[in-house]
Order: sequence, then C-alpha cells, then structure tokens
Amino acid sequence: SYGLILALVFGYLLGSIPFGLLLTRAAGLGDVRKIGSGNIGATNVLRTGNKGLAAATLLLDALKGTAAVLISGHFAPETAAWAGLGAFLGHLFPVWLGFKGGKGVATYLGVLVGLAWQVALAFAVVWLAMAFLFRYSSLAALAAAVIVPIALYFMNAPQIAILFVVMSIIVFIKHRANISRLLAGTEGKIGAKG
Ligand code: G3P
Repeated sequence: SYGLILALVFGYLLGSIPFGLLLTRAAGLGDVRKIGSGNIGATNVLRTGNKGLAAATLLLDALKGTAAVLISGHFAPETAAWAGLGAFLGHLFPVWLGFKGGKGVATYLGVLVGLAWQVALAFAVVWLAMAFLFRYSSLAALAAAVIVPIALYFMNAPQIAILFVVMSIIVFIKHRANISRLLAGTEGKIGAKG
C-alpha cells in the first residue's frame, strides 16, 4: 500500500545519512573511505584512532534505524518493519554517495532495537563475546547476524524473522571481502590502525 512505500522511503532517507563520513570529515580526519577497509562504518572510523568518533558513528548509525522504526510505527504500526528495511537499505545504498554505502551492521542493530529489543540484546551479547574472543569486528557481526533470525523465529515473530533473514543475507554479501580476508588470515583486528 501507499503507507508501506512511504515508510520505506522515509526509512531510506534517514538511513542514507552517512554519519561515519560526516563525523570524520567534520573532525578534519579526511575521507574515511581512503583508510583501512574503506568502509564508512564505526569499525573503520576506529581505524582513524578516534574512539569517541567511532562510538558516535556506531550510536548514530544505529539510532537512525531505531528512529525510522519508532517514528513510522507511531503513525502506523504495520509500517514499522518497512521503515526499518528502508533505513538499512539507505545505509547500504545512499543516493548521496553514488549508492556506495556501508555494510549495515549498526543500522541492522538499531532496527532490531526498534522491532524486538530482546533479540537486540542477544545480538549485543554474541557480538561482544565474539569480539572479545577473536577481535574481528566482521566475524562478530556475521555471528550475530546468524543468531538473530533464529532467535526471532523462536520468539514467534515469523514476519520479522523473514525480514532479518533477508537483512542477514545482505550483511553477509556486503562482508564478502571481509570473509575472504578472514579465511586468508589478513583481516584487521579491532583497534588496529589502518
Ligand atoms: O560493520 C562493519 C564491520 O563488520 C566490518 O567493518 O571496516 O572491518 O570492513 P570493516
């Protein structure tokens, strides 16, 4: 319906704000796409050495997903998931950056906070445990992206589970260079400058 498309577009516009790029630029750190993995996300912002900016990037990239879900859901509950999907796609394919955006992990988490916060906690636990054990941000995100649809399925939220199956598959596709590096043993560890 018209409302779902409106929610998708609204979410997309919020999600397409590239906070990592804007914050590093504003801080005079240059173009974050020219360092490390070339990604605009918090993990790569951390490779500038600025932990505060990395934390702010994580928070804002997540919040745009949560905001899309909650604002849209406030007006029409059935549109919330569509706004979340829009925000995720906006982060990955922002029109402002020639559709070359981020990998979507923070925004995925933010959407999850808005739609099923209990499962967002499970995401955080798995991400932190994996990051603590192996020190790869990408591996932690991929592990978390596997458990989320399963947890949603067991929570009896089949429609949201399907949404997150789709988003998890996209997260994996977006991490294919990371997966190659993990297999080759050349992936950068969390906190290592790049
Ligand atoms: O959220 C992205 C993270 O999983 C990997 O980031 O910069 O190491 O490709 P990066």
